[in-house]
Amino acid sequence: MSYLFLILIIILIVCILVFFLGLEIYTAIIGAPFVSTPKKIIREAFKIAELKHGDKLYDLGCGNGRVLVIASKEFGAQAFGYEFSPLHYLLSKLNIYLNGCLKSAQVFWRNFYKVNIGNADVMFLWLTPKAFKKLDHKFKSELKKGTRIITYSSPLVFWKPKQIYETSNGSKLFYYLVE
Ligand SMILES: C[S@@+](CC[C@H](N)C(=O)[O-])C[C@H]1O[C@@H](n2cnc3c(N)ncnc32)[C@H](O)[C@@H]1O
Repeated sequence: MSYLFLILIIILIVCILVFFLGLEIYTAIIGAPFVSTPKKIIREAFKIAELKHGDKLYDLGCGNGRVLVIASKEFGAQAFGYEFSPLHYLLSKLNIYLNGCLKSAQVFWRNFYKVNIGNADVMFLWLTPKAFKKLDHKFKSELKKGTRIITYSSPLVFWKPKQIYETSNGSKLFYYLVE
């Protein structure tokens, strides 16, 4: 009896690991693998986008949630993050909780291709050119006029940036304004 119970526990643990690992790999393929933007660069990006109190900040693929924490804690924004990897979704939740931002930052376990982004005032993105290609129609049909977009490292493939900034670590930030 206890032998059977042990086998069931092992099967359960393996299933959970396969679930977490499988979605981690799947998410990296459909959007981008997890790499965190340095905090300094996030602050530089928000200064460029003039993120201010009350703005709705969206991070598509929010990783460990640090973009959301900085947006809400240091800039007074309402931050919304979407993350499909269960591990990083949980890390974002924990990060928001530990930083005391539960009222101003939220993370959703969602595939961002299926999320409506029409309410965003500012968007922060670090994704692959392949993912940006898939977002072309969505951005053109959902984003409202005046939305400021900052992408880190890669430009959007379907719009010309209004400005390109070299960051303090030599990487690039691309700034867009929806017209
Ligand atoms: C390069 S990381 C950027 C993390 C964070 N935005 C930052 O700058 O620190 C990209 C993140 O997007 C997530 N991701 C990729 N495709 C996604 C999708 N379709 N829906 C939700 N999250 C996705 C990945 O799991 C990963 O955490």
